[in-house]
Amino acid sequence: MATASAPGKVYLFGEHAVVYGEPAVPCAIERRATVTVEERADDKLRVEAEDLSLDGFTVEYSGPTDANPAVDVSESLVNAAMGYVDTAVEEARDAADRPDAGFDVIIESDIPLGAGLGSSAAVVVAGIEAATRELGVELSRSELAERAYRVEHEVQDGQASRADTYCSTMGGAVRVEGDQCETIDAPDLPFVVGYDGGAGDTGELVAGVRALKGTYDFADDTVRAIGDVVRQGEDALEAGDVEELGRLMDFNHGLLSALGVSARSLDAMVWGAREAGAVGAKLTGAGGGGCIVALDETDATETALKYTPDCEQVFRARLDSDGVRLER
Ligand code: PMV
Repeated sequence: MATASAPGKVYLFGEHAVVYGEPAVPCAIERRATVTVEERADDKLRVEAEDLSLDGFTVEYSGPTDANPAVDVSESLVNAAMGYVDTAVEEARDAADRPDAGFDVIIESDIPLGAGLGSSAAVVVAGIEAATRELGVELSRSELAERAYRVEHEVQDGQASRADTYCSTMGGAVRVEGDQCETIDAPDLPFVVGYDGGAGDTGELVAGVRALKGTYDFADDTVRAIGDVVRQGEDALEAGDVEELGRLMDFNHGLLSALGVSARSLDAMVWGAREAGAVGAKLTGAGGGGCIVALDETDATETALKYTPDCEQVFRARLDSDGVRLER
């Protein structure tokens, strides 16, 4: 039996603009998906997944075609999560040259599903790591990141960026530009995450920005302006200047709003955080719903978000510096 875990992420800067070649900085957070894999005597796959979101819903799932969610979360989200597991297991079989290996898989996660925190990437990275270790193979981190990216690329019909899988594998703050990813130095950032309980449709939101760019010059300019904010953000990270990082997060949120990807719930949480004294706050990920990320050393933002009607969950998450971890 092998158990591995991998972190989720927030975008400190740069989502959406990264699709057009601007840099972005996702950061791994100390919220993990944990996957336990045990080889079976036959070639079947059995997946048990509980706590796949903060809502604590339960999913009983056996076999790749028999999803059976017991609950009040979108069935398509759960099915999507299972699609990632099947494809991750295929990568592990390929890496170990064991095409007929069967597994019992248990997934636990404290990362909300589909909310911009990279839950699927964390499950994929931890799943490939656990399954390959179970088969006696140790992948380098770069091979693991590459295989995890291939899974996301396949499951998301070619629409994946490398940001989530690279960040989840390596941990820390990451700079992404085109196909290039590297970890960069960052201070220990005091992230507070607010979650509205929902999820945006990434494909639709990305298509919306593309359409806006095709029609209005201001949208092109806005995407380039986000790139400028990211570059300034990299300097602030290097200098460890948290106040400046917060200011730049606020600008980044405003620019994302101009591109039409914020939502009333996200704006309410962003303003709740700012009014509580957060040094900065912005939506994270595709937008439309899901999560915001704020920076606050004190408890004030957490407390304020607990009383923000649109906020269903709030939690503190430090920057994760480990990336993927073999637990047992
Ligand atoms: O919501 P997430 O965490 O999947 O992030 C989407 C980020 C986008 O820039 C909007 C799309 C992408 O593939 O980079």
